[in-house]
Amino acid sequence: MAHREDLKGQIAIVTGASSGVGWQSALRLSEAGVKLCVTARRRSALEKLRAEVLQRGGECLVCEGDVTVPEDVERVVRECVARYGRVDLLVNAAAVQSYGHFDQLPWEHITRVFDVTCFGYFRFARAVLPHFRAQGHGHLLNVQSMLSSGSAPLLSAYAAAKHATLGWAQSLELELAGTGIHISNVMVPSVSTPMFDHAPTMLGKKPVPVPPTYDVDLVARAVVRLARRPGRTSVPAFLQGRLMLWLNGIAPSVGKAVLRRYGEWMQTTTTPLHRPEGNLFAPVEEGVGPRGSVPPTPAWLRFTAPPAPASP
Ligand SMILES: NC(=O)c1ccc[n+]([C@@H]2O[C@H](COP(=O)([O-])OP(=O)(O)OC[C@H]3O[C@@H](n4cnc5c(N)ncnc54)[C@H](OP(=O)(O)O)[C@@H]3O)[C@@H](O)[C@H]2O)c1
Repeated sequence: MAHREDLKGQIAIVTGASSGVGWQSALRLSEAGVKLCVTARRRSALEKLRAEVLQRGGECLVCEGDVTVPEDVERVVRECVARYGRVDLLVNAAAVQSYGHFDQLPWEHITRVFDVTCFGYFRFARAVLPHFRAQGHGHLLNVQSMLSSGSAPLLSAYAAAKHATLGWAQSLELELAGTGIHISNVMVPSVSTPMFDHAPTMLGKKPVPVPPTYDVDLVARAVVRLARRPGRTSVPAFLQGRLMLWLNGIAPSVGKAVLRRYGEWMQTTTTPLHRPEGNLFAPVEEGVGPRGSVPPTPAWLRFTAPPAPASP
């Protein structure tokens, strides 16, 4: 059985904390007594998060940086250790995606998606591991996706990067057995974050998550549970989570048939949109706030057929 951590006074670096899963996880960890070092490219958004954490009685160091820049990553970890004396937990959450058919995606989008979504996790892990090893303990918690073990049309580069990240995390877990360093993963369903307001698209139409969309707090609460009992893989949703994994195990052709028939339709609205780069290479400063514009699907609607994606 995994051991239990008392989170009070623990030190965590949270990447991708300027919005979405990273933002909400940082807030929830802070509520549990964790002292934070939060990072992303948008300093102004991180300062808003810091203000919210301080208002609730927490501690929060803001270190902006780009996960594709090794010097930034090293600096964030250095500043965290300089401020708090150590780092106990790394929550890897920063990611980007780009919508389009594979042969339509500019090559730079494919490599950038990997550089942020996959190699960004590797860079932060390599920067904290020497500290974890010297301390004899540490916890690397990776925000994964149901696409880390699944598939979807229009998101081939993102899905590939997520698969790679899960394979890496599972291999690292084997390497680190017995060192006191734990690896955890949370398999995230569609959640209400600005990811869909920021992502570039080659389709000329506004993208939306595969329904149903869950409240982002579902994931943040799973992050806190993993922080308390590290070394596990959490699948917090039932319908777009445990049920889907079970169905894919016993009848993989069912899920594939649904995605082949409806996958593109479910992810695109009819609203015209020209957003060829989104937040891929530079942040979208005038963001839509930490939770984005797509509301969670009400619980009573989750088991019904998804409504036709609307034009907002
Ligand atoms: N939303 C979903 O439905 C969903 C589903 C499955 C998995 N996930 C996973 O959840 C995690 C968080 O995504 P989200 O939904 O919360 O999306 P989000 O709101 O767009 O958050 C992405 C975060 O990554 C940061 N980021 C992007 N590029 C960066 C870079 N080059 N360097 C540093 N930070 C960078 C962004 O901040 P800046 O722009 O300020 O840098 C932002 O804080 C990701 O790992 C994603 O794969 C999300």
